[in-house]
Amino acid sequence: MDHAPALAARPARADYGLDAPGVVRALAIAGILCLLVAAIFRPVRIVVVAGALMVGEAALMTWSSRRGKLRARERLLDLVPWRGDERVLDIGCGRGLLLLGAARRLRSGRAIGVDLWQARDPSGNAIEATLANADAEGVRDRVELRTGDACHLDFPDAAFDVVTSLAIQNIPSAEGRERAVREAARVLRPGGRLMILDSRHSAAYVRTLRSCGLACVRRSRLHFDMFPPVRIVSARKAC
Ligand SMILES: C[S@@+](CC[C@H](N)C(=O)[O-])C[C@H]1O[C@@H](n2cnc3c(N)ncnc32)[C@H](O)[C@@H]1O
Repeated sequence: MDHAPALAARPARADYGLDAPGVVRALAIAGILCLLVAAIFRPVRIVVVAGALMVGEAALMTWSSRRGKLRARERLLDLVPWRGDERVLDIGCGRGLLLLGAARRLRSGRAIGVDLWQARDPSGNAIEATLANADAEGVRDRVELRTGDACHLDFPDAAFDVVTSLAIQNIPSAEGRERAVREAARVLRPGGRLMILDSRHSAAYVRTLRSCGLACVRRSRLHFDMFPPVRIVSARKAC
């Protein structure tokens, strides 16, 4: 009997996409052009240094998307004392990095991802890509995807045991980010855990979460397994 078609249908590995693909492409092209100009015409030091820095930054961002962010997600998920029956919400799940990592730690629980599926970041951002990744991770039966805005979550209060996000920094305005953090706190159950990964606005999240009355609000040191480096903001809703 030939099993080849069935095996081919299942992707071998999940692909969580390239973060900020437009920025990576622009840095790589500009950097290579600088180095070519310096090589062909005159090796002016500032052009060589600028070119090398841009190519280096593009390489670091690619490494972060392909390797580093997988490490960062495990670091974040390791902070949750999993039972296996949790209801998890991942806000701005994209292709499922945190969502599917959480789903892998569930037995009877459910992981729900919401996103606006913005095409620019990460690359190939679409419900179909996330479902293919859920198949590749073997967690399709525990995962649900919805289209929704982080600033206006369509869930009742106290609906989730664990809320995660690596997307709030992608909301352009400070008001929008604050609203999203308040929404994340609202849908968290008493005793539930909130975990946010962020490279830019973690201090503001800490202030917002404290003003929402959450307990054990902590901001980690910088972690260099992603580029730019990230911090984990964690909090717990008092019982
Ligand atoms: C940098 S990507 C991160 C995706 C995924 N969390 C990961 O780590 O690979 C940011 C994601 O946030 C989503 N997003 C941005 N603004 C949003 C909003 N207001 N509500 C829901 N999702 C949003 C984008 O569509 C995108 O999928």
